Amino acid sequence: MKRLTSIVAVNREGVIGCGNTLPWRLKTDLRFFKEQTLSNVILMGRRTFDSLGKKCLPGRCNVVISHSFNLFPETEECKAAYGIEDGLFRASLAPRRYKETFVIGGASMYEQFAPYVDRYLITMVEKGVPNGDTFFDQGLLGNPDNWTLEKIGSAPQSSDDEAAFTIFEISSRTPDDFLKRRMAAIENARAASMTQRSSKSRSSAGTQPLIHALQPNYSML
Ligand SMILES: NC(=O)c1ccc[n+]([C@@H]2O[C@H](COP(=O)([O-])OP(=O)(O)OC[C@H]3O[C@@H](n4cnc5c(N)ncnc54)[C@H](OP(=O)(O)O)[C@@H]3O)[C@@H](O)[C@H]2O)c1
Repeated sequence: MKRLTSIVAVNREGVIGCGNTLPWRLKTDLRFFKEQTLSNVILMGRRTFDSLGKKCLPGRCNVVISHSFNLFPETEECKAAYGIEDGLFRASLAPRRYKETFVIGGASMYEQFAPYVDRYLITMVEKGVPNGDTFFDQGLLGNPDNWTLEKIGSAPQSSDDEAAFTIFEISSRTPDDFLKRRMAAIENARAASMTQRSSKSRSSAGTQPLIHALQPNYSML
C-alpha cells in the first residue's frame, strides 16, 4: 500500500453527517468520489456501510470494519475486518488490480486511521447544517506545516449540486513515516491472524473448540 487516502466531504463547521446520511445532495462530488475510488480498495465503518443500504459499492474492494462477526457473506468485493490494523491487513490482501486504498468514512474511521493516512481529498461544502450530528475533526492532521495543500476542483451551486464546493488535495510532507506505521500495523495483524490460525488447528484436535467460534474466521482468506 503505497499511500492511504481519506476522502471526505465536510462543511465549515466540520459536519459530515446527519441521521446516518449525507447532509447534502452533490451529484458532481459523488461523481468525483466514484472516479477516485473505482477499482480501488475502500475501508469504511459499519454505520457508513448501513448508510449505503448495507450494500458494498460495486467495482471496488469494500472492507467493512465492525466488532460483529458474520455481518454479511464475504465475497471478493465485500470483506469484513475486526479493527483498524485488521482493516489495513485485509486491504493489503486485495488482488493487485485494486490499486489504491481509501478510507471513505465515517467519523470514527477518519479518526482511527489518521496515524496511517498520508493524503486527504477534502470537499469543502458551502452549506450550513444546524442539525449535523457527525463531525470530521480537522485537528487530526496536526501541524499544518507538515502538509501541502492544493485546490484541485470546484463547482458552483446548480441543479445538480445544492451547494457550491471546493475540493482540496492535502498531502503529507513525510509520507515515509506513515508508510512505516502502516507496514508495522499490517505485520501486527498478520501475526495475530497466524496465532489464531495455529490455535484453530490445535482446537480442531479438541483442545479449545469454544474460543474459535468467537474469533474472526481468518481461514477464509
Ligand atoms: N461526508 C462524508 O464524506 C461522509 C463519508 C462517510 C460517512 N459519512 C457519515 O458519517 C456518519 C457515520 O459515521 P460514524 O462515525 O457514526 O460511523 P462509522 O465510522 O461509519 O462506523 C462506526 C462503526 O464502525 C465500527 N468500528 C469503529 N471502530 C472500530 C474498531 N476499532 N474496531 C471494530 N469496529 C469498529 C463499529 O461497528 P459495530 O457497531 O458494528 O461494531 C462502529 O459502530 C453517517 O452520518 C454518514 O453518512 C459522511
